[in-house]
Amino acid sequence: AATGALRIVTDSADGIRVTARAPGKVNLTLAVGDLAADGYHPIATTFMALDLYEDVEATEAEELSLEYLPGPFDTSRLDTGETNLAIRAARLLAEQTGHPANVALRITKRVPIAGGMGGGSADAAATLVACDALWRTHLTREDLCALAAKLGSDVPFALHGGVAVGTGRGDDLTCALVEGRFEWVLRFSAEGMSTPQTYGALDRHRLTFAEQLGPTPNPEVPEAVLTALRNSDVRLLAECLVNDLQAPALRARPELAEALEFGETHGALAGIVSGSGPTLAFLAEDAAAAAALDRALRAEGHHTLRTRGPVPGALFT
Ligand code: C5P
Repeated sequence: AATGALRIVTDSADGIRVTARAPGKVNLTLAVGDLAADGYHPIATTFMALDLYEDVEATEAEELSLEYLPGPFDTSRLDTGETNLAIRAARLLAEQTGHPANVALRITKRVPIAGGMGGGSADAAATLVACDALWRTHLTREDLCALAAKLGSDVPFALHGGVAVGTGRGDDLTCALVEGRFEWVLRFSAEGMSTPQTYGALDRHRLTFAEQLGPTPNPEVPEAVLTALRNSDVRLLAECLVNDLQAPALRARPELAEALEFGETHGALAGIVSGSGPTLAFLAEDAAAAAALDRALRAEGHHTLRTRGPVPGALFT
């Protein structure tokens, strides 16, 4: 992934400041294996980074702190303490490099909160990049990626960006070739969903219907999705969208099934639950189709946003 030019701002009131951003994502495909002994599921997924960014400002300070700046989403219920992924990212980088964790973080959130789009992971990725520059710790991209994987399964992809196949927990990345840009319309929910709960619901369903379902296949990325991306074939891509977490998300939130149906009958080539939900991602044929679908969803009272992908991963702004 490309890295932008580093701009360090020296401001007499604030000290030295570095800004970075990282994108949210949608999983084009997500195959989930059976729960492993470590509490995680082996997965095979295709990530696409979207032009929906988390902005992180890192300023020299006496101690570690975090605040959210006003943005499109209500951040008032987000924890800004030690469990926050951005705080954990700064702490981890400090520990690994021996640098004191003296940074004031200010984040503008533009990725839906607890929406299955990797917003928290993007905060962590942008924080790693910003603090590494601010503290002049100069880690390699590879070292940053190893730290990212310790923070969460989706954090390495927020660093990487573009389109990538993720295996293991989703943190073992292989770059995928992609031609062109794809147009998406996102449909938000007011209430987020918990990732472990959605995975847990899938496990319970598999257990209950073990006899009918048979053994869970090894998670794989279908070859067709890579062909579609390589050839900029949006219609083939639409046929490839698949997510094993979609069924448990729809069972927990039946209104999502209705919204999916509405989008698919109002101009979307296909719709999918993004990651562990509840955000819905609709793929459109082109910008005009995306605009029309966006209008139709809004007219029904849905909260939406148009976005495009792929875009690069975490970089300086
Ligand atoms: O890695 P991350 O902290 O984002 O994962 C959050 C939770 O999601 C995990 O604790 C686990 O319950 C679930 N998860 C999983 N298998 C994965 C990734 C996440 O079960 N591959």
